[in-house]
Amino acid sequence: MVRVLCSCACSIGIVGALMTLISGCEKSTDSTPSEFVAEAKDFSGYRTWTQTTAPRRGPDPSGFIGDAHAAQDTMVIRSIFVNNSNAQRQGNREFPVGTIFLKELRAPDGSIPMITAMVKRGGSFNPNDKGWEWFVLDGQGAITMRGSNVMDGMCAACHKAASDYVFTR
Ligand code: HEC
Repeated sequence: MVRVLCSCACSIGIVGALMTLISGCEKSTDSTPSEFVAEAKDFSGYRTWTQTTAPRRGPDPSGFIGDAHAAQDTMVIRSIFVNNSNAQRQGNREFPVGTIFLKELRAPDGSIPMITAMVKRGGSFNPNDKGWEWFVLDGQGAITMRGSNVMDGMCAACHKAASDYVFTR
């Protein structure tokens, strides 16, 4: 999204130039929204996104997963995607507002028992967990749970172990 933060009408002649100098008024573009409130459509098409890691089944390398994300069921394949292939950690190790990580669980019969996602919502949302919003979606991509306290805070409590709450990137 491109936003014109300061659209000033001070572009004509010397007066305008002076005004520009004095006020520091300049057109600046900013590709990072201050708050990103995700809707179901923002998750659709995730299969075309970049995978953060090869699909997994069974235990994860961090050793934190326990029985979350059906990791004890070695028949279930976990595929993890990020909506922006260029999403990089910033100076503070955090991902930019608008970054979505999504995990699909796929059963051997091809069905999708659950999708989980975490969205860097930012703004004043959930400052205790660096602005992340947690999501659970059904296999059709409908949002069934969202917020800062999904599953009584279990998502956040476990993901806290990872830098900016993200294990695989
Ligand atoms: C007990 C620990 C634990 C709990 C609870 C947990 N997760 Fe995770 N999660 C992990 C681990 C470990 C990974 C790394 C990928 C893997 O091996 O599946 C992960 C990966 C993810 C990812 C991919 C991004 C990343 O961190 O790499 C998303 C999205 C995600 N989890 C969402 C959720 C949501 C939403 C909940 C709550 C409904 C939740 N998780 C609960 C441990 C947990």
